[in-house]
Amino acid sequence: MKPQLILAPSMLSADFRNLGEEIKAVEKGGAPYLHIDVMDGIFVPSISFGMPVIKSIRSATKMVFDVHLMIVDPIRYISEFAASGADLITFHLEAAEDPGAVIDEIRKCGCKVGISIKPKTPFEDVIPYMDKVDMLLIMTVEPGFGGQKMMPETLEKVRAARQYITEKGLQTDLQVDGGVKYDNIHLPLEAGANIFVAGSAVFGPDTLGETKRFNEYLASKQNA
Ligand code: DX5
Ligand code: ZN
Repeated sequence: MKPQLILAPSMLSADFRNLGEEIKAVEKGGAPYLHIDVMDGIFVPSISFGMPVIKSIRSATKMVFDVHLMIVDPIRYISEFAASGADLITFHLEAAEDPGAVIDEIRKCGCKVGISIKPKTPFEDVIPYMDKVDMLLIMTVEPGFGGQKMMPETLEKVRAARQYITEKGLQTDLQVDGGVKYDNIHLPLEAGANIFVAGSAVFGPDTLGETKRFNEYLASKQNA
């Protein structure tokens, strides 16, 4: 069966002064996931937001909260992010001492599990966890900031991961994050990704319109 093609707008690029409205716009535009980037200033250079913000927007939408943790030693905070309203929690392989324990902790908290690798981390490193997670996130930029350019060399890993998932008969979702635009989304799609994070390409003067445009494209590809 063809995997479901999903748009996950990254809230990092939203206008925080009107966060509630921004979230309503991407929901109305048909985006099933809201991608929520948590940065600690150590694993990545920047600091974004944490539990209180997630908690306060939980009542604004029914979208799947796709929480992308860019923090060191993520096991410390899993239960708090789950309690804040996360549905899916993704941690970085590079940030965890014992990735298996983080996976167990996320499951214990009742959330779906995602694992992520940075551009320089080979796909092979994540293979031992592939049958234990719901989603693999392959970063298509160095994590830390929105608005960067997609690194085309990362798409080789997307191809390798999709081949692995197919060969093993797994149901694992394959997410890409970083530099996804309307005019290049076909590249990760062709490489085998099925969940597409887009921040700066979605949020802006016409958040609703851009969300719809992406969604219509993905729907046409889903039914093709
Ligand atoms: C980067 C974050 C991304 C970011 C994507 O570290 O993980 O989710 O918001 O932003 P764009 O789509 O603008 O590259
Ligand atoms: Zn992200």
